[in-house]
Amino acid sequence: MLLRVEDVWFKYPGNIEVLKGASFHADNGEVVAIIGANGSGKTTLLMISSGLLEPDKGKVLLDGEPLYKMLPEARRRIGVLFQNPDDQLFNPTVYDELAFSLNQLLPSKDEVNRRVMEVSGRFGLDRLLHRTPYKLSVGEKRIVTLASILAYNPELLLLDEPTANLSLKLTEEMKRFILHFRDEGKSVVIASHDVDFIAKTADRVYVLYDGVAFGGLSAKVILSDNSLLEMADMRMPASLHMKNQEIHSQVKGWKTTARG
Ligand SMILES: Nc1ncnc2c1ncn2[C@@H]1O[C@H](COP(=O)(O)OP(=O)(O)O)[C@@H](O)[C@H]1O
Ligand SMILES: [Mg+2]
Repeated sequence: MLLRVEDVWFKYPGNIEVLKGASFHADNGEVVAIIGANGSGKTTLLMISSGLLEPDKGKVLLDGEPLYKMLPEARRRIGVLFQNPDDQLFNPTVYDELAFSLNQLLPSKDEVNRRVMEVSGRFGLDRLLHRTPYKLSVGEKRIVTLASILAYNPELLLLDEPTANLSLKLTEEMKRFILHFRDEGKSVVIASHDVDFIAKTADRVYVLYDGVAFGGLSAKVILSDNSLLEMADMRMPASLHMKNQEIHSQVKGWKTTARG
């Protein structure tokens, strides 16, 4: 699903101006990352993109139609992963958590059960089905939340800091899910600080700075631009840093050979 956010302005009560004409888009089959310093408005922009917050000015379009005209139905087409899973988990068991949205979408308990078992198998959650979500580790909570979202098969995924507090193994799994989702032709928007994760998953990157989204070019271009990274309070990802060092040492080698 094509998401287009155009010239969005947003203030929190108390005259806290967060977005001042931010625009970005995510196309079908694309992973787009939004990077930016703490407090730059990444979470606010995702909330506006999902219709959970309404902008003071500007447009949010899904496949060219204003999002606000399609609510609440459009919520079924959008999956939002909150920064803090505790804001999202509210059912007594993991099973109920996975079944919650499906109960409203599928006609019978049998079908809900079949879908829950399928999703829990895919995410390796079988052994957690009867546990209480709020007692799980943060990583487990985040995977349960992601599974409960993917269970209803949204077309657009909005992920807020998806790798925060995830182990290496779960980070790797998160990457796999995101790329799989993209390969199904769906759109993913990731707000994150994790530059190495973005380097591995994003097709394009925007830098949110002073209420405006800059860039929107390929991840390789944005993540090797030091002045853009500085605006986002980030460093170059290890993978690109190494490539640059290799190039530098090669160039140094050539110079020495040329001189020698
Ligand atoms: N509910 C709120 N009320 C007032 N100010 C808020 C609220 N939520 C966020 N802010 C402020 O808005 C700015 C942007 O926050 P946020 O969108 O969470 O940024 P980020 O996700 O990039 O860290 C910050 O200065 C933050 O303190
Ligand atoms: Mg945030």
